[in-house]
Amino acid sequence: MTISSRAAVHRGGSSLEITQIEVAAPGPGTALVRLGASGVCGSDRHVLDGEWEMPSPTVMGHEGAGVVEAIGEGVEDVAVGDHVVLSWFYPCRRCTACLSGRAFVCTGSRSEECLLPDGSTPLSENGTPVYPYLAVGSMSEYTVVPESAAVKIPSDVPFEVASLLGCSVSTGVGAVVNDAMVAPGRSAVVVGTGGVGLSIIMGLNLVGAHPIIAVDLSEEKLAIARRFGATHSVISGPDSQEQIRSITGGGADYAFEAIGRKDTIESLPGLLVRGGTAVLVGLPPADQTINFDGLALAEGGIRIVGSNYGSTVPGRDFPRLAALYLAGKLPVDELISDRIRLDQVNEAFEAMRRGERARSVIVF
Ligand SMILES: NC(=O)c1ccc[n+]([C@@H]2O[C@H](COP(=O)([O-])OP(=O)(O)OC[C@H]3O[C@@H](n4cnc5c(N)ncnc54)[C@H](O)[C@@H]3O)[C@@H](O)[C@H]2O)c1
Ligand SMILES: [Zn+2]
Ligand SMILES: [Zn+2]
Repeated sequence: MTISSRAAVHRGGSSLEITQIEVAAPGPGTALVRLGASGVCGSDRHVLDGEWEMPSPTVMGHEGAGVVEAIGEGVEDVAVGDHVVLSWFYPCRRCTACLSGRAFVCTGSRSEECLLPDGSTPLSENGTPVYPYLAVGSMSEYTVVPESAAVKIPSDVPFEVASLLGCSVSTGVGAVVNDAMVAPGRSAVVVGTGGVGLSIIMGLNLVGAHPIIAVDLSEEKLAIARRFGATHSVISGPDSQEQIRSITGGGADYAFEAIGRKDTIESLPGLLVRGGTAVLVGLPPADQTINFDGLALAEGGIRIVGSNYGSTVPGRDFPRLAALYLAGKLPVDELISDRIRLDQVNEAFEAMRRGERARSVIVF
């Protein structure tokens, strides 16, 4: 039996259509989730702006949380009524990476194809397949995800907050804690302080990095960065490198990019001290190549680290982040600049393109 769900569908082009789709009953190993909230992430915007190839039509949204409404055969990890955060890179639990505790480099996941493990899609429209973006499709009242993509968290975490644990917060905090492994007192600069960059700042504050320098074009975002623990803020411009080198006395130990722009990614080595680490979190358009000076990298002992999903292991990290939020150590509420309805999602993308809003969150 299928159920009808209002969803934001991408059919190519830069805006989404709000329409009714059908959601199949959960098959073996999957769960039907009623969404409570979905964030609007920069990665969704890349798809709308034609920067990455995706199957079509697609229900967008990959940063979601909700309640398990029904489970398929054999599901043991979640039960009806559980509050869950959804993972946009579901682990297969069988490949060598998964078996080594490195689910973030799983080779068996079909998330990037927007498919369930059996190669099917649970969504359709008049009998025609519709794809859930990254096998989540959280901009819909209902979705069906693999069991390993739905992680139970305490029900006292509000859905708006829980949704952000599913991408921006896990990506940003994970980049600091899991990928860069920043130690207390090490200096860090974050270039781009939208939803993901501000989450990196949260992570840096959590581990006691110092100083923490936020760089953005928007004074509004930099003000939030300072509230999240940034000790310095720099308006992005021709003299930002000089300012950062002066604040840090010669360059930062860590430089994170959280925009996805070729020029700002290429600027990272120039912000670092010898032996420093550049962490690539922002995702550039698929057809762009990033150039670095190999001689300078080698001679400077510079490390370049690619960071996907903050190397999150969903079952380990979502409950940890929820516990840190409940303990008052992650100010995720303050990351939410706008609570919107599903039919306001196109305005949220327009605002994002103008560099406005820390994070818009769709509340169902
Ligand atoms: N690696 C991952 O796993 C992962 C996960 C989630 C998102 N992302 C990527 O992270 C990037 C950021 O996502 P987001 O949701 O925070 O987007 P966002 O649009 O909310 O944030 C981008 C920020 O960059 C700022 N900015 C734009 N141009 C700038 C410039 N020239 N100099 C300084 N600041 C500038 C904007 O003002 C904005 O604050 C995107 O590329 C997204 O795809 C990566
Ligand atoms: Zn995201
Ligand atoms: Zn795997």
